[in-house]
Amino acid sequence: MLEREAARLSEIQPDHHVLEVGFGPGLGIEAACQYVKGGQGKIYGVDFSEEMVTMATKLVRQDVNDRKVKLILGDVADLSFFESNKFDRVFHCNTYYFWPDLDKAVRELHRVMKTDAIMVTTMNYERSIRMRDIGLFRYGDIDQRRYMNALEACGFRDVSLEKTKNKESGAAYDVMYAKKV
Ligand SMILES: C[S@@+](CC[C@H](N)C(=O)[O-])C[C@H]1O[C@@H](n2cnc3c(N)ncnc32)[C@H](O)[C@@H]1O
Repeated sequence: MLEREAARLSEIQPDHHVLEVGFGPGLGIEAACQYVKGGQGKIYGVDFSEEMVTMATKLVRQDVNDRKVKLILGDVADLSFFESNKFDRVFHCNTYYFWPDLDKAVRELHRVMKTDAIMVTTMNYERSIRMRDIGLFRYGDIDQRRYMNALEACGFRDVSLEKTKNKESGAAYDVMYAKKV
């Protein structure tokens, strides 16, 4: 699962404040939560689908009740409900393609991240290309260079792309890193 891989690669520490954008059914949120158990850390999620917020809330109900997780219905391009310099880690999976205003979204993510915070993005690029080529990907733009250029233009540094494999399943996927300096 790419969401779990994104959480794992984020190297979340028990006291971290973490944001997942576009959490969908909530598997990444659930995974991230395991890393802050026993610490002061907290996992936040933002997704602009009411259905996804409902679904993910069911998945992590206990952690929501325990106030370890807060899921918010919202758009990544307007994170005004968060103060600046809040998050130690941000991660997202299979979602930047759908952000209507990539530059605005990236600026908001940069604003809410602390200095030295890391953002991790996972995706199955080859599969997405195949889906696009057979017409299953009519909305969204998966172009990795476009995303990485937007990050660099916004001020992120150490923007990188790696091809890697899931240790358990052996499935190949891409991971992108960016650091706020
Ligand atoms: C393809 S799904 C991926 C879900 C999950 N991350 C996964 O990999 O299974 C994209 C998710 O991003 C959310 N999303 C798309 N655009 C968004 C935006 N502008 N702000 C917040 N969430 C967004 C969608 O509602 C959806 O849950």
